[in-house]
Amino acid sequence: MRILAIETSCDETACAVVEDGTKIVSSVVASSTKMHEKYGGIVPEVAAREQLKCIIPVITEALSGSGLEKRKGKTPLDTIDAIAVTIGPGLIGSLLVGVETAKTLAFVTGKPIIPVNHVLAHMYANFVDSSFVIPGLIRNPSSFSTGSRLGGRDDKKKIQFPAISLVVSGGHTELYLMKSTKDLTWLGGTLDDAAGECFDKTARLLGFGSQGGVAIQEAARSYHVSDIAYHPQLPRPMIHDDSLNFSFSGLKTAVMREWKKCSFPVIPAQAGIQTKKNSGSPIKSGMTNMFAYEIQEAITDVLVTKTIRAAKQYHAKSILLSGGVAANLRLREKFNIHHSTFNIHAPDGALCTDNAVMIASYAFFRGTPTDWHTITAVPNLSVEEI
Ligand code: KG4
Ligand code: ZN
Repeated sequence: MRILAIETSCDETACAVVEDGTKIVSSVVASSTKMHEKYGGIVPEVAAREQLKCIIPVITEALSGSGLEKRKGKTPLDTIDAIAVTIGPGLIGSLLVGVETAKTLAFVTGKPIIPVNHVLAHMYANFVDSSFVIPGLIRNPSSFSTGSRLGGRDDKKKIQFPAISLVVSGGHTELYLMKSTKDLTWLGGTLDDAAGECFDKTARLLGFGSQGGVAIQEAARSYHVSDIAYHPQLPRPMIHDDSLNFSFSGLKTAVMREWKKCSFPVIPAQAGIQTKKNSGSPIKSGMTNMFAYEIQEAITDVLVTKTIRAAKQYHAKSILLSGGVAANLRLREKFNIHHSTFNIHAPDGALCTDNAVMIASYAFFRGTPTDWHTITAVPNLSVEEI
């Protein structure tokens, strides 16, 4: 079954064609992230306008993929069996662009349309066969050993159920029990900020622009424990709490407090530590890298500890990571420590962040074709009652 999927929940406009939920025929992603940089966060109005500009070119490009050449006089659209679209959660202006475009396509072509929950779709990126992935996909750098059990289907190890699934993105930190590709139960989620939001907000505090998670990861990699004598003690919120919920706003506040407190009074053990973004004094650069390291350690400690606890509690055989933060190399490294107990999977980097491939995969495995008249954008679509 060949599904054309459209994703426009936030600041990415994406379209993909995927066969049987696993094989990527084409995948195109346009992003307006850079445009929001000067505002210090995503401006919904700007994101919606960019969605409008990009949606037709992105669909056109996805339909001109090499696997979609005309067959016996058929157009690429004729070869599609169903259309899938993200209906929420997300920004209303952005969602409407994708939803109305998908409904129009369904009406004009008479093809079935499948509404998709963006957050649930993230975890289905784990079912995609990475070997079919588009050129330019970010793979794990080989210098970072993530072990043979991590990396989607590359390791040829199948996902086994029950599985615990951690969706960790800019807007969500959710844990699910997955008994099959259809049977999902929500176990817990963040009570306030998402992990990605914590990465982004603390990154801004340290002086980084957009792509906060990536900036912190890179700065943390430049840090060496011996560089700076001072270490802030950052909390690991709710790490010992019995529930499977998370909280990251306290961590953000703690970083703010610690960052303000130290107006760079310390002497670095080594000079010359600089980051590209923050190339002020070596001391400041070293401090920035050290804070980035500590922030990343705190966030990843909480995510790993709670996910492993859930996996033990539910006798899981596999752990599935997904969402933008699942691209984090330190997080993967920490999960990898548990590879002898659990079969651990994470999509390649480009399938962790927002894309339409995961929307098509979810639609194939768990979607329900729905009358297009009844489909609407739902900005606050529940990720718990599913
Ligand atoms: O899944 P996603 O693309 O969008 C949402 O659905 O929210 O996730 C975006 C989030 C951002 O907060 C971004 O900073 C974070 O994922 N992110 C990372 C990394 N790459 C993206 N966080 C930590 N390390 C990374 N390498
Ligand atoms: Zn997302």
